[in-house]
Amino acid sequence: MLRGILEKSQKFNFLGNPPIDDHIRNAMGFAQVIHEFTGENQKGKIYDLGSGGGVPALVLIEKLKEWEFVLIERKEKRADFLFEAISDLNASERVTIVCDEAENTARNEKFSFGADFVTARSFGPPAITAECACRLLKLNGFLVVSEPPSNTDRWVHEKLSLTGLNPIKHTKFNDSNFQVLQQLQHPSDGLPRRAGVTRKRPLW
Ligand SMILES: C[S@@+](CC[C@H](N)C(=O)[O-])C[C@H]1O[C@@H](n2cnc3c(N)ncnc32)[C@H](O)[C@@H]1O
Repeated sequence: MLRGILEKSQKFNFLGNPPIDDHIRNAMGFAQVIHEFTGENQKGKIYDLGSGGGVPALVLIEKLKEWEFVLIERKEKRADFLFEAISDLNASERVTIVCDEAENTARNEKFSFGADFVTARSFGPPAITAECACRLLKLNGFLVVSEPPSNTDRWVHEKLSLTGLNPIKHTKFNDSNFQVLQQLQHPSDGLPRRAGVTRKRPLW
């Protein structure tokens, strides 16, 4: 079922060209990071930024059956696709699809400070990802980001402190790299700024 859904996603051009197995392997890396950073209590809430064609979100929904999910996607056609996908996966009861900008979602009291984990793959540069994630995460929650293959200092910047996020680990599973950040302080009141502003004037 999941594979068929991801094949459909690729046909609609919601998902990049690599083979479906590569997408699934990358998403399983997110699951391993989540497993590593979750304590005894292997359940909670995972929010996915820019869920698009469903990776890693749909794979995680299938793998982590005890968890609740919020999938945030601003494009209506993609959100519709995700809505149908979670219905096909019989996961509608524990998954919410939000068709809106992540910046607005973070300011919606239904969602702010609600996530144990925020996941992001190809959502945007670090400054935008951190700004959108910081008001969605609970204090001490984790942001997990799929990283480009070359190890860079993408997350090292003095402005990151405004978000309250701290890089705590760069890790690799199979052939995918991940950066893990922890929400150690409350974000600055002004973050995230309005959608559009985060893109036009990134924090760094
Ligand atoms: C390059 S795609 C990646 C999708 C998926 N995570 C993947 O890796 O296949 C980025 C997605 O994020 C969505 N997106 C980008 N910025 C957003 C924002 N500020 N709020 C909500 N969705 C956003 C886009 O519409 C797009 O579907």
